[in-house]
Amino acid sequence: MKKSLSISILLAVLSLNVAAEESVELQPANIDPEDRASIVHGAKVFVKYCLGCHSIKHIRYQRIAKDFALDDKKVLADIAPQGATIYDKMNTAMNAHDSSKWFGVNPPDLSLIARSRGADWLNTYLRTFYSDPSKPLGTNNLVFKDVGMPNVFWQLQGEQQPEYTEEDGQKVISSLTLGKPGTVSPHEFDTMINDLVNFLAYVGEPVKIERERMGKYVLFYLIIFLVISYLLKKEYWKDVD
Ligand code: HEC
Repeated sequence: MKKSLSISILLAVLSLNVAAEESVELQPANIDPEDRASIVHGAKVFVKYCLGCHSIKHIRYQRIAKDFALDDKKVLADIAPQGATIYDKMNTAMNAHDSSKWFGVNPPDLSLIARSRGADWLNTYLRTFYSDPSKPLGTNNLVFKDVGMPNVFWQLQGEQQPEYTEEDGQKVISSLTLGKPGTVSPHEFDTMINDLVNFLAYVGEPVKIERERMGKYVLFYLIIFLVISYLLKKEYWKDVD
């Protein structure tokens, strides 16, 4: 009896938690694996704002050059950090010891993040940091409560303040407003985040581009084969007729 009671309490608490997370509406990302300019721009943004803490161990710079038909030198100059070689993986310069000392938790590798969290979640996460003076980093996040990551875009996006409403006697955040404007317009910021998420989605499945390329070769081969077999058939039946 006691056991079943504690299980039902546990279940109730769990479902409350789920409800709390679900109450935030995710902002859909516009993922387009064909939009190469967007993905390449996203890679630049990643190296500039994220690689300081997060790695993407599944990808080498050479792979980006190959997938987007870019010159190796161009990738090294425009995307990779200084000192990297084309054969390097996207490793962060930060070591795990320092990061756990500074943030209390290691920034995870982001190779598969678009698969585990989903593109819409990432799009929402990166845009919904807000000021929260009660937190050690002075910031919090709508979809990742009490997150241990600082808001790396506070200058670009500006500072967002939460607006509260009452729901069932509880104070909940209804929206975020831009208290202090950033150095880029909201539209420019959203486009940049979308490019970054498009890049993270590509990273989660870089074989997709190769598969699509292979698909075209296979179709081409089938058409040629069809023509040859048609011609052969005509040739054979000529003698029979
Ligand atoms: C100053 C270091 C730092 C920088 C720069 C940084 N992050 Fe983080 N990030 C962290 C830490 C630490 C965590 C772990 C937070 C936690 O678990 O509370 C994290 C967590 C995350 C998560 C959540 C992972 C999960 O558990 O699902 C995502 C996604 C993420 N970061 C993406 C990014 C992106 C994209 C950028 C670049 C725009 C970036 N981060 C820049 C430190 C950083």
